[in-house]
Amino acid sequence: MAVSAPAAPGAVGGGGTTRQERVSAFLERVITDGGAAVAGLCTSLGDRLGLYRAMAGVGPLTSAQLAARTGLVERYVREWLAAQVAGGYVTYAPDRDTYLLPDEHAAVLAEPGLPSYAAGFFTMLQALYATEDSLMDAFRTGEGIGWEEHGAALFEGTAKFFRPGYAASLVPEWLASLDGVVEKLERGAAVADVGCGYGYSTALMARAFPHSRFTGYDFHRPSVEAARGIAAEQGVADRVTFEVAGADDFPGEDFDLITYFDCLHDIGDPGAALRHAEHALAEGGTCMIVEPNASPHADENATPVGRVLTAASVAVCLPSALAQHGPQALGNHAGERALRELADAAGLHHWRLAAQSPVNRVYAVGR
Ligand SMILES: C[S@@+](CC[C@H](N)C(=O)[O-])C[C@H]1O[C@@H](n2cnc3c(N)ncnc32)[C@H](O)[C@@H]1O
Repeated sequence: MAVSAPAAPGAVGGGGTTRQERVSAFLERVITDGGAAVAGLCTSLGDRLGLYRAMAGVGPLTSAQLAARTGLVERYVREWLAAQVAGGYVTYAPDRDTYLLPDEHAAVLAEPGLPSYAAGFFTMLQALYATEDSLMDAFRTGEGIGWEEHGAALFEGTAKFFRPGYAASLVPEWLASLDGVVEKLERGAAVADVGCGYGYSTALMARAFPHSRFTGYDFHRPSVEAARGIAAEQGVADRVTFEVAGADDFPGEDFDLITYFDCLHDIGDPGAALRHAEHALAEGGTCMIVEPNASPHADENATPVGRVLTAASVAVCLPSALAQHGPQALGNHAGERALRELADAAGLHHWRLAAQSPVNRVYAVGR
């Protein structure tokens, strides 16, 4: 490998800029990232304390009015607003001393029902940053960090991060892209949602297909308990059950559809999971594997979504799989070929990229 000599200070390099200019430009970028990392805490506070929701659609507010609407302390609210203005999330009118959350920003920060909602993602930060000391050890020892070892903010934040995309695409696009599956679901089919977490995916499918039966499986008991509560709230508990079970030993058979939402790569032995699915599928049944839309090639993930996904893989996905001591620790950007080879070895020879969104790729898989 050729290694070029470091440029002398002031030397002109790529693009006609000096080394010092390039250092300064990169420093500015890193400071910007640092600002985003700190401000993410304020975004999470704004989401969890209902500040964004209280500002949505009501026009300009003073800090005192926002504090009154949220039942929070004005002095803290004013400080939070200053940070929101600094980040460009909220606008400020100095003549009236009022703050405004533009409608377009409310669609991203304040409306959990919209596909554009992204504030829930920031709930995860608390858990990710709290993992740092454990990750230091893990990097040195090679040991994993189990999903269950994280704080509750990870479980809730993961669900909130993925839910808007599922709500927008799961039924109208992803299920529709699978050959013959919607017709089966409309008639009445048996569905297993493996690694279901909080089960938003399970509940979404159940709402759309009242004649079918859905079972969500996850080995993480607190998530299963949360999923039961969410299904009851959403009025689908009559056709949805959740059970604590592993991906390679969940009970039941003759499933018409087995789904994996953003979890196959977290499993220590995804090959065993797919072999189990092959046994549990009904004749003509389908596996739908939803995975993060990240590339196995490091130079292809330099996008906002790619950056989120690859960093999450370091903090959560890879350590989760390693903690299960299986033969694979895929990480969330192992790529289609690696997954397809595992499915093929499990007897699932039919493989098709059925749909994709900026965040996910959806594979239709069968015997
Ligand atoms: C990233 S979360 C995704 C959760 C949910 N499917 C969603 O999309 O919001 C990964 C889930 O996989 C579950 N999981 C990981 N390994 C598992 C295994 N071996 N068996 C069952 N569930 C597992 C975790 O408990 C966690 O709920």
